[in-house]
Amino acid sequence: MEWAKMCSQAHFNLATSGLTSVPIGEFPVELEELEITKPGGYGYDPLQQRIARHSGVSEECVVAATGTSMANHLAMAALLDPGDEVLIEHPTYGPILDIANYLGAQVKRFTRKFETKFVVEPAEIAKAISGRTRLILLSNLHNPSGALIPAETLRAIGEMVQRTGGHVLVDEVYLEMIFDSAPPFAFPIGQALARDNPYIVTNSLTKVYGLSGLRCGWILASPVLARRIWLLNDLFGVNAAHPAERMSLMAFNHLEQFRKRARTLLATNRALLDSFLDSRRDLECFRPPGGSVVFPRLTHGDAEAFCKLLREKYDTSVVPGRFFEMPQHFRIGIGGDTQNVRTGLERLSAALDEFAKR
Ligand SMILES: Cc1ncc(COP(=O)(O)O)c(C=O)c1O
Repeated sequence: MEWAKMCSQAHFNLATSGLTSVPIGEFPVELEELEITKPGGYGYDPLQQRIARHSGVSEECVVAATGTSMANHLAMAALLDPGDEVLIEHPTYGPILDIANYLGAQVKRFTRKFETKFVVEPAEIAKAISGRTRLILLSNLHNPSGALIPAETLRAIGEMVQRTGGHVLVDEVYLEMIFDSAPPFAFPIGQALARDNPYIVTNSLTKVYGLSGLRCGWILASPVLARRIWLLNDLFGVNAAHPAERMSLMAFNHLEQFRKRARTLLATNRALLDSFLDSRRDLECFRPPGGSVVFPRLTHGDAEAFCKLLREKYDTSVVPGRFFEMPQHFRIGIGGDTQNVRTGLERLSAALDEFAKR
């Protein structure tokens, strides 16, 4: 995260994974609807209702959080005691691993292999899971590869966890980038499996909708667990910034507009990415069905040295694979402005050409 904040800046930024931010001039702000402070209680009721409706769950299953980041932390902290066993996908989004370690969990891993398109193999989880496994952590779409976990896999994992006990946390911050079919949301799949839903889900308006600054995140959990998480949040944030809650409500009122923006931008930029990838023999790449990232492998030379050359000489950034424990890869994000992405990819090509001659 420190690298992302301090070192990923370059004129041509292919390091970010979300949609380019919505500027205030394009945000449908209704000044008369703003307020500074809300009366007491847990969450802001109108926003709770919108998140619940958006997610197809009852309000008692929704806990508001400061972005998916805090949602992940709260959910994990509510479920894990020091020494508890957790099972985390490899590769993973770094902070997930860091939170587990911070909470003193005993971390075990299962692999999503590049060679098999980063699929989640229930058999891999079956090998690693035990009666001691308190929590399994997945991202859907997968960060860094963009791979989709289909509903039948989620069902199989849910059934497994029902037999062994514990929960599955799915970070769905990229899932609504699937526009052409119904995304496989984990929470309703879990609800259909058992009265005590084995699934917990985290999400926000950050990545798909380009609204990171609102920090509008949430957790979906069974009502008993949701209440526990609200109480735990009293140790952390207590309340959200109310103007941000009000603006998040405005965002939900215009979500279709932001969704269209994302869909159009990603379709345009994906075409650029595809022609870039088609032109490169020095990259091996799984191409996911949607989303904003890919995670190619450099076939020759040291990928870390390549990322350095790209940044220093070509003023273009990607995320080095070491942040995902796969140093021969790097992550390309295509959620930026089209002109920026186009030039970034051209520079990536030029840097690859130069690197190949070394
Ligand atoms: C998988 C995943 N979860 C959570 C986040 C952070 O989301 P938010 O900005 O909503 O805190 C990121 C950001 O890169 C991410 O990739």
